[in-house]
Amino acid sequence: DKGNHRHFMQKEIYEQPMVVAQTLKSYLRPLEEQVALPDMAFDLAGIERVAIIACGTASYVGMIGKYWIEQFARLPVEVDVASEFRYRDPVLLPGTLGIVVSQSGETADTLAALRHMKQANVTTAGIINVPTSSMAREVDLLLPTHAGPEIGVASTKAFTCQLSVMAALAVNLARAKGRLSAADEAEIVRHLIEAPAALNEALAHDAEIEAMAHTVAAARDVLYLGRGPDYPLALEGALKLKEISYIHAEGYASGEMKHGPIALIDDNVPLIVLAPSGPLFDKTVSNMKEAQARGAQVVLISDADGIASAGEDAVATIEMPRVHPLIAPLVYAVPVQLLAYHVAVAKGTDVDQPRNLAKSVTVE
Ligand code: F6R
Repeated sequence: DKGNHRHFMQKEIYEQPMVVAQTLKSYLRPLEEQVALPDMAFDLAGIERVAIIACGTASYVGMIGKYWIEQFARLPVEVDVASEFRYRDPVLLPGTLGIVVSQSGETADTLAALRHMKQANVTTAGIINVPTSSMAREVDLLLPTHAGPEIGVASTKAFTCQLSVMAALAVNLARAKGRLSAADEAEIVRHLIEAPAALNEALAHDAEIEAMAHTVAAARDVLYLGRGPDYPLALEGALKLKEISYIHAEGYASGEMKHGPIALIDDNVPLIVLAPSGPLFDKTVSNMKEAQARGAQVVLISDADGIASAGEDAVATIEMPRVHPLIAPLVYAVPVQLLAYHVAVAKGTDVDQPRNLAKSVTVE
């Protein structure tokens, strides 16, 4: 049931504050200001490295997880799309934690990668939304997301719930490895608790995003830029736009733009820049300015500080709440999803059932 929403995708975008809160609830102990995982049959302290495997949107959660696990737990992390993982004959050393991320728990390539890891005696964990799925049954440690059924083919609420669990896992690993103080953990928990409210604030910009959707809908190509954990979000923005609006879109790490894609820029190319203020901001803004000088129509998604310092020449700005860098990818996912949604509606495509796509990809 879509309730009073026009599409399941829209309903699922709007459910995010609730389902992220629901998911975080089972991973946070607010009184102790600690993160907690379900009981497990192995010791996280013995983990020396991490391999994350997933497809599509879930693989971007893996890429963001790499930043977090390396930053907090100081463990090396590799991330693969599942369809490549087995075929490169990966080196799976003892002490590896293999993590699969999947909404359906049935994606054929991810399931095959999980079985490959198990065969190599790797300890596995799964961030999975469907608790009765094949992957959920086969992982050593099930880390459920509580997004509820996701009907729209384009993944939205599963993504932000997966990020919530990934953050909890990164913090838990960091604590188990003795690399996170109780005070730092408490601070992170406080920021995670604020995530649902920040998602609500992001949703409040829906009408502004809808208003600019017609401009983006007229474009042939759209580029998304981000740096650090916002780089995978640029990939997610581009994927969301192309799958439901059929507009060609690419996501790039901000610093990579001048190594090729800048050749595409002219005044018909919208450039969506995801740049929360913080240590990475100035560098991303200088990449944005290079594109603006060549005519790019910049849409700057940032917070009040970022918009005040760099929003001047943008054709549009979308103001996100000021948030801790850890929750920025969750919050910035909202405008990216809403933009794809409104562009698709403006173009009249079938938002919930885009052509050529299936909700669960059970062929390799
Ligand atoms: C994009 C999308 C797909 C899925 C991918 C993995 O909006 O929905 O890219 O993320 O097919 O699916 P799961 O998470 O079920 O393994």
